[in-house]
Parts: sequence; C-alpha cells; structure tokens
Amino acid sequence: MDVRSISTFGAVAAEDEPVLNYFVETSAVSEIGEGEKFLVLGRKGSGKTALVRYFNEKKQNGLVSIALNLRGYPWALHAKRSDSDVDESERYEASWRYLIVVEFAQLVAKRLTGLSKWTDEAKNLIEFFSQNYGGLDVGLGDFLRPEKLRLTKASFEPQLLGVKLGGITLERKSEQGGLARELNLLSDLILKNALYLCGREGIEKILIHFDELDQGMLRFDSPRQQMLTGLILATRSVNREAAKNSVKLKSVIYLRTDLWNQINFSDKNKITTTSVLDISWDEASLLKVVNSRVNSITGKNWDAIHDATTMRGRQQKFSYIVARTFLRPRDVISYLNILLSKAKERINTKGGATVFTNKDIVDSKREYSTYLRLELHDEISPHWREWEDALKAISKMGLLSFARISFEQRYPQAVTAGNVYTSEQALETLYEYSVLGAYRASGYGGKKWVYRYSEPGEAWDSSGNLFKVHLGLKEHLALKE
Ligand SMILES: Nc1ncnc2c1ncn2[C@@H]1O[C@H](COP(=O)(O)OP(=O)(O)OP(=O)(O)O)[C@@H](O)[C@H]1O
Ligand SMILES: [Mg+2]
Repeated sequence: MDVRSISTFGAVAAEDEPVLNYFVETSAVSEIGEGEKFLVLGRKGSGKTALVRYFNEKKQNGLVSIALNLRGYPWALHAKRSDSDVDESERYEASWRYLIVVEFAQLVAKRLTGLSKWTDEAKNLIEFFSQNYGGLDVGLGDFLRPEKLRLTKASFEPQLLGVKLGGITLERKSEQGGLARELNLLSDLILKNALYLCGREGIEKILIHFDELDQGMLRFDSPRQQMLTGLILATRSVNREAAKNSVKLKSVIYLRTDLWNQINFSDKNKITTTSVLDISWDEASLLKVVNSRVNSITGKNWDAIHDATTMRGRQQKFSYIVARTFLRPRDVISYLNILLSKAKERINTKGGATVFTNKDIVDSKREYSTYLRLELHDEISPHWREWEDALKAISKMGLLSFARISFEQRYPQAVTAGNVYTSEQALETLYEYSVLGAYRASGYGGKKWVYRYSEPGEAWDSSGNLFKVHLGLKEHLALKE
C-alpha cells in the first residue's frame, strides 16, 4: 500500500463533497426519518449537512425530501416581519409557520397530476401563488418579500371577526401589530388545501430540512435568537397539525448546539426532552467514517494504510488522533488530510515506509491544532467576540494544566477593549466548548479529567480548581505538560 495513491480523505464540509459515496448510516437517519424528533443538534462539523444531503440525494420510494439551505437567507428582511403584539419568543412564529406552509404547498402544487389539478383546492393554491409570486418557483427568501399579500375570492379569503381580509400587509410599522393573527388565518387555509391535495395525490411522506441557520452570522443577537425560536415553535406546530391530519409531513431543523444552548423560551425544556436529537459520535463510529472513505478510495481500510507500531503508552494510532478531536467527523477528516500531506512529503523527500508512521502523526499536530482553533473561533466568537483573550492568557502561562488562581492572575492582563467577561465567565465558557477540561471526582473515589464533549452531562462546577487544555490545542498554544 502506498498512501500517495490517496489524493484526499474528502472535503471537510459536506456541501463540498460527494458524501453519498461514503456516507455512514447512523441511528440518526432512522430517527429523523421515522420518529417524532425534529430538532437535530450538533456542534460544528458533527455532520448536520451530511444528513441533509443524505436525505436529499438518496432516492427512497414514496419520500419527498427537500433541503432548505439558509445560506444567504434575508434575515434582515425577516426581522422586519415581527409582530409586536405577541410575546418575544412568539414574534416570528407566525411568519415561519407561513413559510413552512407555503413551502409545503408549493411542493405539493408542483407535483399535482391528473384530476387533482382541477379541484378547487388546487385552483385556489395556484391562483394564490400566481397572484403573489408570479408562479410556483418561489425561493424561501422571497416568500416574505412582498409588502402586501393579495387575497381574492379565487385564492383565499380568510375571515377575521366576520370580515373578509382582502390582503395582508407584511410591511408594517413596528407599533402596528396584528400580523400574526392575520397570517395564521391565511396559513390555516393554505395548509388545509395542501394537506388535502397531498392525501389525494398519495404522497406518502414529505421531509423539509432547514440547514445552515448560522451562516453569515457574526453576532447571535436577540432578533436572531427570536427568529430561531420562532422557527422551532412553528415547526412543532405544523408537524403537529400534519400528524393530526394523518399526513406525514415533517420539517426538521439542524442547529448548532451552541446556538440552542443560548436561546431561552418557555417550552424549551419540553422540546429538549421530546423533540431533540443529538448527533453523537464515538471512536468506533468515527472509525467507520474513516474506513468507509478509505474503502471507497483504495478498496482497503484504515489498518492497511498505517504501520503496526503503537504510539507512546501503547496507544493505537487512531485513538491518538481521536483524543485530539472533539469526537466530530470534521476534526478526524482534517487530521487525516494533514497527515496525508505530511506523509507524502516525507516519503517523497526521505523515503521510508509508504504508509502512515507514528512520526507522521506527531508531525501533523501543529497544523491540526491551528485548524482546531479556527473552528473554535467560528463557534465561540458569535457569543463572545474576545474569547481569544483567554487563550492568550493560557498561552502565556505555558502549561497544559493549570490552577484557577494562576488563570485569575493572568487573564486580566490579557483582556482587550470591549471584553466584559470575568475570569469565572471565561473559564466557564471555555469549559462549555471543551477547550478546557476540569479535574473532578470520578465516582470511584478517585479523580479524573472531565471534558464536556465526551461527557455532556457534566455541567460546569464553579468550585473547580484545576483545568486542562484540550490536547488538540496544545501545539498551537505552545503548551508544556
Ligand atoms: N454520517 C457521515 N458519513 C460520512 N461522512 C460524514 C458523516 N457525517 C459527517 N460526515 C463528514 O464530516 C464532515 C463534516 O460534516 P458536515 O459538513 O455535515 O458538518 P456540519 O454539522 O454541517 O458542520 P457546520 O456546522 O460547520 O455546518 C464532512 O466532511 C462530512 O462529509
Ligand atoms: Mg453544515
């Protein structure tokens, strides 16, 4: 085996690669497809987009699946469609409900065959789309764009307190509430028609996936939080209505865990227990991801592309790599791509084994740790822009593990303008993202290092005194054991 025959282990983002060629089917697939869960949570690089692409591209009988990518979504326009009459967390529920309903209706209307086209339900729908959007090819970002929706006898005429609405003004002055009430009446009618037509056409199941809700987001500010909450509430509501009508329509939201942790609304706990699916990986399932890639490229598996010697402390090579990740496929793939280029360079210049050696793996650590820091930056900075101040303090201390008191001394010197985080908040946030682990009682009388990514149940303990930086960052921060 010569690793030089491998050009890459794949792109690090699912949108950029033929993920179906080596997709690993985890239990998440059946839970999303069959179960009640509609909120898929995972950290960056955990495989949210890969799941969406799997559903979208793998043809399954009777299943219609569409991916709504919110990259480029007009968030600022949507922000203007809030309803000041209702509670903060519900400000955007009606507008999202409308979006889901029209998206679903458009999907059904496009698939109408034979006599269904001539039913009143179909004619109303098609008239509505043509009057307001010029046809059935409306992108998600355009549904809320009109200043006013026209409503006529030929399309829909919802009644409010006995009076027919001739239209719904979407562009309102902020003090002029009432949008939710009107929009919900319209959504009810559209949904009723679309559900009817869906049943009539014998469409067995529809999945609508919302992905990339974090794209282009610099700050996770309160309008954005409210819009996300609105989407989650609207999804739950439409899913429920469809189920009541025995139509298998399900919208699924793919969201970064850190964003979910930041938002608050009254039903959040209920949704967490009944509707959340956490994407989680362990060493064995990550090895499957790697094997499936190696196999599709070389016809062999991981064990064929490295030598048999173990790392220091008898650790397997793969375990050594995984210990430097946050148990996410992107981390592993990134490590392997760096390793591949290091090994090729070594083979071409110095010769030696044509498979991965321990030294290749060690030589890849520095570049990998730079990748890891950038990935963390994308995750943490929308919440805490100056988070790297804390890294600088740690780097100055120079040790992989340190006492709280040392950090409390160093951190204030590293704080830059605008950083309002206290050292306690800084430590807590770093713990939250597993940049730091904490030294804790292990339950067997001893103590051990606890990291959130491998033990999500281990909440922050403000009395903790000893911390250890995640191994993946060691080289980048130039830390010593
Ligand atoms: N089940 C899987 N089988 C094979 N490869 C996977 C699987 N899940 C994820 N991957 C790979 O892991 C990498 C990261 O996945 P993906 O891009 O889907 O993450 P993400 O959660 O969408 O991240 P982000 O939050 O940054 O958008 C990609 O290269 C993807 O192909
Ligand atoms: Mg993604």
